[in-house]
Amino acid sequence: MEGRGRGIFSMLSVLILLNVLQTCASKKGPPNIVFILTDDQDTVIGGETPMTKTKKLIGDEGIIFRNMFVTSPLCCPSRSSILTGNYVHNHGAVNNSVDGNCSSPIWQNQSEMRAFITYLKKQKYTTFFAGKYLNMYGRRETGGPEHVPPGWDWWNGLVGNSRYYNYHLSVNGTVENHKDNYENDYLTNIISKRADDFLQLQSPDSGPFFMMLSTPACHGPLIPAPQYNNSFNDTKAPRNGSFNVYGKDKHWLIRQAQFPMPADGIANIDKLFRRRWRTLLSVDDMVENVINLLTQRKLLDNTYLFYSSDNGYHLGQFSMPHNKRLPYEFDVRVPLMVRGPGIKAGQLREEIILNIDLAPTFIALSAQTAPSQMDGMPFHNLLAQNATIPASSWRESFVIEHQGAYNEIIPKCPQFDHMDLSHCNKICVCEDAKNNTYSCVRTLSADTNYLYCVFEDTENFEEFYDLNKDPDQLSNAIQTVGKSVLMDQRKKLMELSVCQGPSCHKI
Ligand SMILES: *[C@@H]1O[C@H](CO)[C@@H](O)[C@H](O)[C@H]1NC(C)=O
Ligand SMILES: *[C@@H]1O[C@H](CO)[C@@H](O)[C@H](O)[C@H]1NC(C)=O
Ligand SMILES: *[C@@H]1O[C@H](CO)[C@@H](O)[C@H](O)[C@H]1NC(C)=O
Ligand SMILES: *[C@@H]1O[C@H](CO)[C@@H](O)[C@H](O)[C@H]1NC(C)=O
Ligand SMILES: *[C@@H]1O[C@H](CO)[C@@H](O)[C@H](O)[C@H]1NC(C)=O
Ligand SMILES: *[C@@H]1O[C@H](CO)[C@@H](O)[C@H](O)[C@H]1NC(C)=O
Ligand SMILES: *[C@@H]1O[C@H](CO)[C@@H](O)[C@H](O)[C@H]1NC(C)=O
Ligand SMILES: *[C@@H]1O[C@H](CO)[C@@H](O)[C@H](O)[C@H]1NC(C)=O
Ligand SMILES: *[C@@H]1O[C@H](CO)[C@@H](O)[C@H](O)[C@H]1NC(C)=O
Repeated sequence: MEGRGRGIFSMLSVLILLNVLQTCASKKGPPNIVFILTDDQDTVIGGETPMTKTKKLIGDEGIIFRNMFVTSPLCCPSRSSILTGNYVHNHGAVNNSVDGNCSSPIWQNQSEMRAFITYLKKQKYTTFFAGKYLNMYGRRETGGPEHVPPGWDWWNGLVGNSRYYNYHLSVNGTVENHKDNYENDYLTNIISKRADDFLQLQSPDSGPFFMMLSTPACHGPLIPAPQYNNSFNDTKAPRNGSFNVYGKDKHWLIRQAQFPMPADGIANIDKLFRRRWRTLLSVDDMVENVINLLTQRKLLDNTYLFYSSDNGYHLGQFSMPHNKRLPYEFDVRVPLMVRGPGIKAGQLREEIILNIDLAPTFIALSAQTAPSQMDGMPFHNLLAQNATIPASSWRESFVIEHQGAYNEIIPKCPQFDHMDLSHCNKICVCEDAKNNTYSCVRTLSADTNYLYCVFEDTENFEEFYDLNKDPDQLSNAIQTVGKSVLMDQRKKLMELSVCQGPSCHKI
C-alpha cells in the first residue's frame, strides 16, 4: 500500500515536471524588459512613500535594492550614464547644457551609438521609448526632433526638459504638439497610453521587447493631475536628519546657505514636497496600468520590470531649499525595484547597485556579454533565485562626480539655477556654483560606510563622513579621521576617477 502510493506520487511528479518543462520551453525566448525611470525621485526624504501600488506590484513581488546610487546627482549626466553604462569621466556629458555634452553632436556621434538599446536592437528586440530623454534632446543645435536616437523603433521623445503640459513630442521623428488638456496632454498619462498602444500589439510569440517609460514626475514644474491636486493636504517635508541644519564645516556652497530658513521658505518647501508626491500618484497609476496590460497580454511571466530614478533630491537638508547636485545621501540614493522571471518575491538586497549597472544588466538579460567599454557591472546574477554573490566579487566603492554649473552673467550668485535664482522662492541661496565641482568616493561594505570628497575650489576643500557613526552626514570628520583610512580613500578616489571598463569594477 505504502509502496504503491509512492509510485503514483512519483509518476505524478514526473508528469508535473514534464508539464512545467514544456510550459517553460514554449515560452522561453529572451525576456521582455520594461524600464520605468522617474525624474528627481529621492529615496531618503520619503520620495517613495506615495508609490503604494508600485511597491506592491514591483518591489514586494521581487527585489528592493536598498543601496542603489547614482554616480552623478544631476539629470543629464546621470541619464547619459544610464544609457551608456559609463561614468561621467568616460561619457563626457558633464552638465545639462549642449556645450557640456548634453545630447550634443559629439555625444550623438560617440556615446549614443553605444547606448544599451543598440545592443538590444542587434538581438532583435522591438524597442519602445516614451517620455523625457536628455534635457537638450530635440533642440535645433542637437539635431531637432527629427533626430531619433539609434536603436529605438517606437520613439516618443519629449523635446527638452520635464514638463506636464504644453510640450512637444518627437514621434518617430515628427513633432507632435501638446497643449493643456488633461485627457490629451498630461504627459505621464500620455506615456501610459502610448505604452498601451505598444503592448496591445505584443504577444508571447511576437518576439522580445524593451520598453522605457521615462516620466516627468517628480521634476518641476510639479503640476499634478487634477484628481490629485488636493492629495496629501496635511503632508509636510520631513524635519528629521539634516533638515534646517547649518553645515558649518562643509564646503562653501553649504556654508553660504541661509540659516535658519525663514518660515515662509519652509512653507514653500512643504508645498513643493506635497506637489512632488501628487505628481507621483500618476506614475503609480501608470505602473499599475502597465502591469495589468502585461497580465492581459500573457506577457508578465516573461517580463522584467525595473523601477528607478535619475537622481535624488533635497528639500531643506543643510538649509538648502530645493534641488539636487550635492554628494550627500539624499541626492545620490535613488529607488531600485526589480521583478521578473525567476525572481523570488519579497527580497531585500544590500549590494551597491549604480545607475551605470543598468545598461550592462539589460544587455546581459538579452543573452549577450556586457560590452567591455562599460564601467558598470551587470547584476543579472543577483536577480536569480537565492543568488549569493560572495562579497569579494562585488564592488565596495564607487565615484560620484559633479561639475558645478554656473552662469557668468549672474555676478551676485554664480549658480545656474533659473528657478531658484530669478524667482527664488522666499529663500535666495546658490544651489550650485562653479566651485561646487567635486569627486567623491563612496565606500560601503560589511564594516565600512564612508564618503570622502574633494572639491575644486580655492580651499581644495575635503569632507569625510563615517556614516555608521554619522548617518546624516552632520559633521565633517576630515580633521579627525585616521590617517590610514584617509590615505586609502584618497587612493581609491584617484583610481576610480580615471577608471575605464573593467578597472572600475570590484574596487
Ligand atoms: C564632450 O565629450 C567629448 C567626448 O567624450 C569629450 O572629449 C569632451 O571633453 C566633452 N566635453 C566636455 C566639456 O567635457
Ligand atoms: C559626426 O559624424 C559625422 C559622420 O561620421 C561627421 O560628418 C560629423 O562631422 C561628426 N560630428 C561631430 C560633431 O563629431
Ligand atoms: C513608429 O514607428 C514604429 C516602428 O516602425 C511603428 O510601428 C509605429 O506605428 C510608429 N508610430 C507612429 C505613431 O507612426
Ligand atoms: C490645483 O491647485 C492649485 C492651488 O493649490 C490651483 O492653482 C490650480 O488651479 C489647481 N489645478 C487644478 C487642475 O485644479
Ligand atoms: C485640500 O485643500 C484644498 C485647498 O485648501 C481644499 O480645497 C481641499 O478640499 C482639501 N482637500 C482635502 C482632501 O482635504
Ligand atoms: C525622516 O522621516 C522620513 C519620513 O518619515 C523617513 O522616510 C526618513 O527615513 C527619516 N529620515 C531620517 C534620517 O530619520
Ligand atoms: C532557495 O532557498 C529557499 C529557502 O532557503 C529554499 O527553500 C529553496 O529551495 C531554494 N531554491 C533554490 C532554487 O535553490
Ligand atoms: C557646462 O559645461 C561646459 C563645458 O565645461 C561649460 O562651458 C558650460 O558653461 C557649462 N554649463 C553650465 C550651465 O554650467
Ligand atoms: C566659490 O565661488 C564663490 C562665487 O564665485 C566665491 O564667492 C567663493 O569664495 C568661492 N569659494 C571657494 C572656497 O572657492
